[in-house]
Amino acid sequence: MRIRFQPYGVRAEAEAGATILQVAQQAGVEIEAVCGGRGTCGKCRVIARGPLGPMTEREQDALSPTEVEQGYRLACQAVALGDVDVVIPEESRLSRVSILSAGASEEIELDPWVRRIPLRLSAATLEDQLPDLENVQRAAEATLGHRLVLTLGALQQLPSALRQDGGQLTLIQVDDEVVMAHAGAGPERLLGVAFDIGTTTIVGYLLDLETGEQLAVSSRLNPQTRYGDDVVSRIAHAGTPEGLRALQQAVLGAMQAIIAADTAEIGAAPRDVLAVVAVGNTTMHHLLLGIDPTALAQAPYVPVATPALRLRACELPLDVYPDAAIWLLPNIAGWVGADTVGVILSSRLYQQDELGLAIDIGTNGEMALGSRERLLTCSTAAGPAFEGAQISCGMRAADGAIDRVEIDHDVHWHTIGEAQPRGVCGSGLVDLVAGMLKSGVLHPSGRIEAPETLIEAGRPKLARRIVGEGRSRQLLLVEPNDGAGGRGLTITQRDVRELQLAKGAIRAGIEILLRELGASADDVRVVYLAGAFGNYISPESALTIGLMPSLPNARLVPIGNAAGTGARMALLSRAELENATRILEHVRYLELSGRPDFQAHFAEAMLF
Ligand code: FES
Repeated sequence: MRIRFQPYGVRAEAEAGATILQVAQQAGVEIEAVCGGRGTCGKCRVIARGPLGPMTEREQDALSPTEVEQGYRLACQAVALGDVDVVIPEESRLSRVSILSAGASEEIELDPWVRRIPLRLSAATLEDQLPDLENVQRAAEATLGHRLVLTLGALQQLPSALRQDGGQLTLIQVDDEVVMAHAGAGPERLLGVAFDIGTTTIVGYLLDLETGEQLAVSSRLNPQTRYGDDVVSRIAHAGTPEGLRALQQAVLGAMQAIIAADTAEIGAAPRDVLAVVAVGNTTMHHLLLGIDPTALAQAPYVPVATPALRLRACELPLDVYPDAAIWLLPNIAGWVGADTVGVILSSRLYQQDELGLAIDIGTNGEMALGSRERLLTCSTAAGPAFEGAQISCGMRAADGAIDRVEIDHDVHWHTIGEAQPRGVCGSGLVDLVAGMLKSGVLHPSGRIEAPETLIEAGRPKLARRIVGEGRSRQLLLVEPNDGAGGRGLTITQRDVRELQLAKGAIRAGIEILLRELGASADDVRVVYLAGAFGNYISPESALTIGLMPSLPNARLVPIGNAAGTGARMALLSRAELENATRILEHVRYLELSGRPDFQAHFAEAMLF
């Protein structure tokens, strides 16, 4: 059986019983699969022609009668029974994502843990038949006051390096090991890459380790998204050895592509990279290492390992300098990972006298509250709504996503890339709901008001946008004529409820952190907004919907991709690398699930 995927012109062989989505994934054809192929998100719509298995119940729920007539199927449900032609419509294609790579730059002192050791050695003679290594050790003792540890790779390079330039050579030390012996002054630049491995996107920063200069930055959609948008679907997929291997290969492949792109930009090669520091949530950490993450998804949600880990590149394997050091910053708990350590490190929350709150909203919502005295952290599974999952018209922040909304007498929106609207991303959703609240379209309980109520309030244009009754009431955001592919966009009552759940969880998390620390909202002096929150979501809209309590004495500081900034700091400085480890000792993790006070706060925080 052959399946042809258009518009890519890719042909793939299908095994009996395989779904269109599985065949596409094996052939490297990207189709949106937000729920990881469970048939719940309805985002993998394709037009399929040819012999196919019967429509499943999930497809009947997700597809309208017109779509069924047009030949639409859900790729994760439809099974090919013979040769099939598949057209992937624009809205189901994975597109380039708008990525947070411009994190706040933090002033740090360079304290490199990759460095050059220049040595001048005298040549051995018949009278003094000094072995090469002993020659190096004598010179090291004389200049550095101690002997050195050389890797096998460095030892293999030593004889030619020592004889090429009249005994003038440079050793490159990474951590406590000499990993390279080079004639003369050594390589032109010592390079390292800092990675922020997000559930959705991976960003890699190429740095000059001696000057701290950022030489290149690039990013990729995390290819694991083809197995599901959220960490829970990935963990489920990693339940078999093949699944785990596929997820590990996917992240390693993207890291390798980023390293290749970054080094090519400056005329260098991946093999010139001597050090890597990576941060990510605990699931990303486990998947990168090929460690089964199943326990993370089951109570009591324990990770396999939390301390910072140092590996050699060849162990992963990552195709950089074979003896390059790969440092993974520590995880705090199963649901608060090294990315949060990166946020705490770069915001300096752990060193401050005043009480600070850091909020990082990505696929999950993580929060840390405290100061140099005490620091508490927690996590809520709140993120997917802010990244477009679980919202009927939701999508990631990519071209065509509505990212800003204003509501006065009518609805006004803006899309990323000025493209025709295809969906709404997190920042657009928060603006939209804030606008609906302020304009009276939304009752504080979260109910979309009836058109009559809006007419009475003197808002006829908004009243005309309300369709449906009761629980199926919707606000028409984009008219079909204006939408990509002639599809209108609506926000449903259910979408509003999803956002209420997400914001309620984050708000409840903040309230519990305050309570556990014995502090009040008035005591908070600074709020660091990281991730999508810091860069895209409007703080004013976030306050309007009650995502955060009002913190009257706090200044709001957007810190961009703070997790990535933390990784860069640790790459450039041994002291910062050690600080990251110290944070792990300083911070206490609060598990929110199962806490009765969380349920109480959550129920209250759901209201607008
Ligand atoms: S419905 Fe098919 S991937 Fe979600």
